[in-house]
Amino acid sequence: NHPFKVNELGHLEVGGIDTTYLASKYGTPLYVYDVELIRKNCRSFVQTFNNLNVNAKVAYASKAFSSIAMLQVIKQENLCLDVVSEGELYTAIQADFPTEKIHMHGNNKSEEELTMAIENNIGCIVIDNFNEIHLLESLLEKHEKQMDVLLRVTPGIESKTHQYIMTGNEDSKFGFNLNNGQAEKAFCLLHEHSRIQFKGLHCHIGSQIFETDRFLIAVELLFQELNTWKEKHGYTPEVLNLGGGFGIRYTEKDNPIPYEFYIEELVKAVRNHSRKMGIPMPEIWLEPGRAIVGNAGITLYTIGSQKHIPGTRDYISINGGMTDNLRPALYQAKYEGVIANKASHPPVRDVSVAGKCCESGDMLIWDLPVPEVNNGDVLAVFSTGAYGYSMANHYNRLPKAAVVFVENGTEKLVVRRESYMDVTKNDLHYV
Ligand code: LLP
Repeated sequence: NHPFKVNELGHLEVGGIDTTYLASKYGTPLYVYDVELIRKNCRSFVQTFNNLNVNAKVAYASKAFSSIAMLQVIKQENLCLDVVSEGELYTAIQADFPTEKIHMHGNNKSEEELTMAIENNIGCIVIDNFNEIHLLESLLEKHEKQMDVLLRVTPGIESKTHQYIMTGNEDSKFGFNLNNGQAEKAFCLLHEHSRIQFKGLHCHIGSQIFETDRFLIAVELLFQELNTWKEKHGYTPEVLNLGGGFGIRYTEKDNPIPYEFYIEELVKAVRNHSRKMGIPMPEIWLEPGRAIVGNAGITLYTIGSQKHIPGTRDYISINGGMTDNLRPALYQAKYEGVIANKASHPPVRDVSVAGKCCESGDMLIWDLPVPEVNNGDVLAVFSTGAYGYSMANHYNRLPKAAVVFVENGTEKLVVRRESYMDVTKNDLHYV
């Protein structure tokens, strides 16, 4: 149930490299990415649009995992980039990412963020609220510049996912609601603006979604709105950005549909609606994050202490947890894993994998089938490539783990492990 091989020693391999070698060379916890898989995921999105003969842009949502090396790979793959903060934009600039291929999101973009976006001539800003319209107008005036924008709209759809990662519902902090006239009011402020080029609409209904139905309803609702704007104001959009959110497999219970299928369905719907309403076919933009990096990354840990509660459960503790993977604690997210140095041993019992943070909720996996495990064994947890490193934190003052990229049978350290000096670097003495 994972894309990685087990070698003749019975060890898990990523991209042709033995993970036990990586664990001993770079230490644990360690995030390891198979760069070939990242590239394959990028190419499958682009290729599908090409096969369908549609003008499209695929932007990697860098919130899923941003580092200079990662963005260099995305640049090589010719994708665009979605950033949501000054920090993500700064990382993109450090990676020498072409700024005209970057678009910026955010429900509370600061003056500094918008200024950085304007000064660096990024490709597009996705406007989220009325405050931002006024702030952007005044900053463009001050800098005597122009900006392409999309309007983020909230269609009022509940996607079938965890409540915390649902974004298209009526009661959402994001975007202009479609059903109460906010979107049209914003449109009127932006349409025929002297400094703002209003390119079209954006909509992201949520994350880790497994069905196309809500995407298709969103497209329909967007077109209903566009039809009104066409009839009332003679406006037709150049771009329709349908966001990200394509689900991946974390455990065998997850059955994601192939991205090709999502894209085909979305393109078909956009084609049909535009034909029906006499709106020229817009360029379609997507912004997948998880689908590009999720399955390409694993995390390696070292197993430490064990606790047996007769008749209840066996705990095995690892040297990481909610500091390097917050998702189980935050969303009750489920993961699978193997003992990397015993990957071909048949399981003999189920254990519960506990993180090392001082908190009972710091449990990475509740029921993991394992062979006999010993102190010092290496646990590999699969599908940690998205929202793992990017949501890592310093709880209990644990330093952030390192990241290694593997490609063509060679590995490269791309993010150094933090030291205790890094952890305390901003602390100042009081006495
Ligand atoms: N576009 C927008 C506007 C978004 O808000 C997001 C994710 C994406 C694209 C990318 O979504 P993806 O393709 O990665 O699902 N921390 C959560 C996920 C939060 C996603 C927030 N926005 C998690 O670990 O599941």
